[in-house]
Amino acid sequence: YFNYRDLDLGVNNKGNTSYTQASIWGVKYFKNNFNRLFSIRNLRFARPTTPKPLVIVTPLHESQIQAAIYCSKEHGMQIRVRSGGHDYEGLSYVSEVPFVIVDLINLRSITVDIENSTAWVQAGATIGELYYRIAEKSKTLGFTAGVCPTVGVGGHFSGGGYGMMSRKHGIAADNIIDAHLIDVNGRILDRESMGEDLFWAIRGGGGASFGVILAWKIKLIVVPEKVTVFTVNRTLEQNATALVHRWQYIADKFDENLLMRVFIRRANSSQDGKRTIQASFTSLFLGEVDTLLPLMQKSFPELRLAKDDCIEMSWIESILYFAGFPSGESLDVLLNRTSQGSAYFKGKSDYVKQPISEKGLKGSWEMLYDEKLEAVEFLYSPYGGRLSEISESETPFPHRAGNIYNIHYVVAWGEADIATSEWNINWIRRVYSYMTPFVSKSPRAAYFNYRDLDLGVNNKGNTSYTQASIWGVKYFKNNFNRLVHVKTKVDPGNFFRNEQSIPPVSSWW
Ligand code: FDA
Repeated sequence: YFNYRDLDLGVNNKGNTSYTQASIWGVKYFKNNFNRLFSIRNLRFARPTTPKPLVIVTPLHESQIQAAIYCSKEHGMQIRVRSGGHDYEGLSYVSEVPFVIVDLINLRSITVDIENSTAWVQAGATIGELYYRIAEKSKTLGFTAGVCPTVGVGGHFSGGGYGMMSRKHGIAADNIIDAHLIDVNGRILDRESMGEDLFWAIRGGGGASFGVILAWKIKLIVVPEKVTVFTVNRTLEQNATALVHRWQYIADKFDENLLMRVFIRRANSSQDGKRTIQASFTSLFLGEVDTLLPLMQKSFPELRLAKDDCIEMSWIESILYFAGFPSGESLDVLLNRTSQGSAYFKGKSDYVKQPISEKGLKGSWEMLYDEKLEAVEFLYSPYGGRLSEISESETPFPHRAGNIYNIHYVVAWGEADIATSEWNINWIRRVYSYMTPFVSKSPRAAYFNYRDLDLGVNNKGNTSYTQASIWGVKYFKNNFNRLVHVKTKVDPGNFFRNEQSIPPVSSWW
């Protein structure tokens, strides 16, 4: 019994918590539920009432996925494919109809080819594992993907993959050059045999609508031996509103070696201890501090960035820095799939095309003062640079030129009860509603990887085109129609489906 904790049953390795090691004690407390708990990031979907899968398949070999597809079709069950388990709405491990989870945790090998600057990474690997394996072999190669090391490459790359180098190198999906996928007929396909349409669709359109992605081949990118990071915090009393307002005019136009994100959080004022808002300018510069400072002086002198605010480090150390690990932490922490824990949370996203007035910004920040909120933040992530050079239709991810920044709203709480969940979810919906006049319109665009079922869901059973386009154009704009055509070609019977999967055209009404 877990509440009578007994470390004699087994403990995690220090530093690197491996699945195999943890399962020694894990299956004793949780039996088969251990696998399900291990990869659940959003505890909203780990309640006793949450529908459970009939079985969790953790394949060691591709043929076991083929068997799972065959059996699920035969018995009319749905398949949910899970790589890192970070889906915001739990779609990789929860379904309202009888279902099976195919969890790729055991398929996570990574082969880095330094000579050709490429790597094959199996879908069950995390981005932390990928970064680690690249850095193990080279000091000057890296990859452009997200910030949280426990995110899985299966879901993350297939939905986009924005990170601290995206202004210079685009998103992860922009740097995929081949893939292996099992289709609805159990065939294992690569780029050549799947064809360019399907290869296009899985690089931003989400993998779950099209098959089971086994592995990606990625193009590694060149990183300088030294990069510079800084985090500058400013409260309302320190002019945060004017600074963020100004930031909106330059964030997407800076030198593309610089990516400066802003976290907006509640804080206590250092002057009188009263509640205030803190804007945290968190940045990566792909170069040395002496090159950065004159650029900042020219583009954003108002921030008054000083040399002392900056730290030079290797690219791989910057991965730990942005993931929030303390300085000096061992790189091995990147191999730890559970390092960043789980929470009850709800996220939403928006795109900003015109700078928001100071009054508009402050109005949203005031909503953060609500006493009932436990953990909450708005994250403004700049676009521009390489992201703007790529056309909207190059990949299904359409958020290119014209976007200044993306807003990610997230609220998290620690209580399991439904009333607390509802209160927090309603709070974030109120914020979203407040933001309507300030963000993109027709469609009000959203980032697919920050999945949000409030945008619309498919009908149960029959997924119609009309219904799906409500949420589909928000994530994919005009690319939604091409995704529908690809789906119709590769999975006309709509076997691979979920609440926000692309429908085939047989259901065009
Ligand atoms: P998960 O396994 O839950 O899969 C997500 C979706 O992809 C599901 O629909 C699933 O079925 C499907 N899928 C997964 N593997 C598949 C496969 N092999 N074949 C077919 N379909 C598959 N995003 C970002 O761009 N930048 C960031 O910095 C972050 N940071 C971040 C931090 C935290 C804590 C969270 C919870 C999330 C993020 N994200 C993010 C969002 C993240 O990119 C998004 O949730 C991804 O879908 C997660 O991919 P996983 O494989 O972990 O999820």
